[in-house]
Parts: sequence; C-alpha cells; structure tokens
Amino acid sequence: PHVVCQPCFDCKYTDCVVVCPVECFYEGDKMLYIHPDECIDCEACVPECPVEAIFHEDNVPEEWTSYVEMNAEKAPDCEVITEKKEPLADN
Ligand code: F3S
Repeated sequence: PHVVCQPCFDCKYTDCVVVCPVECFYEGDKMLYIHPDECIDCEACVPECPVEAIFHEDNVPEEWTSYVEMNAEKAPDCEVITEKKEPLADN
C-alpha cells in the first residue's frame, strides 16, 4: 500500500482524497492516513499532493519510515474522508 508521510502534517490539502477510487483515506486531526488493507496502489493520489507526502511503503524516505506503521494504526480509528475541504496549511 501507499503511506501518507510527514509533509501532510498541518497541511491536509485533501487533493488526494477526491482521486482515490477505493476511498481509503482517513482523517486525523493533523493529517490523513491511508488504510493499508484498502489501498490498491493505483498511485492516482501521488501526483495530486502539493507537498509530495504520499509514497509507496517500499519507497518511504528513511526519516519517515515510522509513518508506515502509523498509517496502519491510525486509519482504522479515523473517519473516512472523500471530499476536499479547507486545508490546515492556509490557516
Ligand atoms: Fe495530505 Fe497531501 Fe493529501 S497534504 S491531505 S496527503 S493532498
């Protein structure tokens, strides 16, 4: 699956969620998470993110590898998000 990493923190641009064909994005207070059991690796979201926060789990930059487990842990506890909303970054 793909993973949302640190650049999403305090951003939440949410451009990613509208292109996801399987609705696998979940919204935390500060960032989004991808549910690893639902992501089909279509990569549609990757070029949509303005801050390049989304990576395949095998290509997550070294400093953000903890986000692989974090997405898996947090996504099931959050609400699914499928529509774009006002980002935190502009506030
Ligand atoms: Fe976050 Fe980028 Fe989506 S900032 S909400 S992963 S478009």
